[in-house]
Amino acid sequence: MLYIGVDLGTSAVKLLLMDGDGKIQNIVSKEYPLYFPHPGWSEQNPEDWYEQTMAGLKELLSDCDHSQVAGISFGGQMHGLVILDKEDQVIRPAILWNDGRTQEECDYLNNEIGRDKISEYTANIAFAGFTAPKLLWVKKNEPENFARIEKIMLPKDYIAYRLSGVHCTDVSDASGMLTFDVKNRCWSKEMLDICGVREEQMAQIFESYEVVGTVLPEIAAELAIPQTVKVIAGAGDNAAAAVGTGTVGDGACNISLGTSGTIFISSEKFGVDKYNALHAFAHADGHYHLMGCMLSAASCNKWWMDEIIGTKDYAAEQAQIEKLGENHVYFLPYLMGERSPHNNPNARATFIGMTMDTTRADMTQAVLEGVAFALRDSLEVAKSLGIQIERTKICGGGAKSPLWKKIIANVLNLKVDVIESEEGPGLGGAMLAAVGCGEYASVADAAAKIVRVIDTIEPDPELVAKYEARYAQFKQVYPTCKPLFDALL
Ligand code: XUL
Repeated sequence: MLYIGVDLGTSAVKLLLMDGDGKIQNIVSKEYPLYFPHPGWSEQNPEDWYEQTMAGLKELLSDCDHSQVAGISFGGQMHGLVILDKEDQVIRPAILWNDGRTQEECDYLNNEIGRDKISEYTANIAFAGFTAPKLLWVKKNEPENFARIEKIMLPKDYIAYRLSGVHCTDVSDASGMLTFDVKNRCWSKEMLDICGVREEQMAQIFESYEVVGTVLPEIAAELAIPQTVKVIAGAGDNAAAAVGTGTVGDGACNISLGTSGTIFISSEKFGVDKYNALHAFAHADGHYHLMGCMLSAASCNKWWMDEIIGTKDYAAEQAQIEKLGENHVYFLPYLMGERSPHNNPNARATFIGMTMDTTRADMTQAVLEGVAFALRDSLEVAKSLGIQIERTKICGGGAKSPLWKKIIANVLNLKVDVIESEEGPGLGGAMLAAVGCGEYASVADAAAKIVRVIDTIEPDPELVAKYEARYAQFKQVYPTCKPLFDALL
């Protein structure tokens, strides 16, 4: 049988077709626009997601036996607020995970309601990208839109809704809404009250590998697939990527270098860090995870290459980099503000340390290293909780660069296991579909049978020592610049 994974990303939707043995048969990618209507705001049009997903699905299936398609599932950009009225029309553009407009609402939740209470209800505190502060923002700034809300959903759930007609979500994605009681895997009545919404407006909650329904007859007809094709709930893109890289069970780690950068630590038991610096979310394997999320990772490199230097040949630029661990330039990668661990939408990107002999390669290197240092900030929080991590998987667009993987291995002092396919969320989505259709007994079983490590990058002790010293300096840059970032607004 065949299984489809839909990775609804920020720059594009990537669709992946997998057979029952876990072999990838086809991959298709379709881009859509991202809008920044105001500095620090980030929006997309849900109709664009749907149109491009449908166009991508047709292309994805063009050479296969359509009758073999059994299931479809998702990994989706998290936290985005999608609101529908009673005619099922999208009320306003989706407000995305990297949107920083809700500082006031976060202050209200964290300081007036109180971090302790919010953490008790949801296992997390308010971060600007999370969904609950956005609901409060719409309530205050667009009351006419708020009054029309009939259904509240997350990005991938909008696609599931259009395909199946079921208003559903899954535990991993729901975790990032701040309206979800992560420990007990249900909506938090307290948080729904605080946001002024009713449970009927919220989606039905599923485990990520559970079947929510089948495709609607008109969808089956349009895609020429059987009406029996199952729609499986799917997961937030990070949990889906963890499935796709085999990051399940206790203490396994995955780093994703996509538009965002995340460090994801899976855990069999529920746990919250006492400062809530890391997100405590439900995992797609039925358990839990901790996660640090930086808002701009591979997107820093893309910005530097495409917008500033003006090249598409990333590999040629990286080939000029010779002196790892010896760069005198530092880069703070906060192009969209920062989530983990600083929780500061006002943070900004910065280069510091240039001299007359600084080269273009030094600057490129500083960008790659700045992202690695910022991931290390989250790793340090995990270490402070007593979590021991020796190795990690890696996925996302940035993971295609051997140099960047080497920098990550040495800055974080972790063995980096390179897997056969770096298609994290798309593959994870297809694997969840296969589990939901009964092809595998569990997510862990699918991960054990499908994911293969093909290489390991070992950290080099000499380079690790050099980066240790540079990280100590990097850590001083943000606190020094912070007052200035606030003043620059
Ligand atoms: C995770 C997060 C991002 C998005 C990117 O908390 O906000 O990783 O999911 O798609």
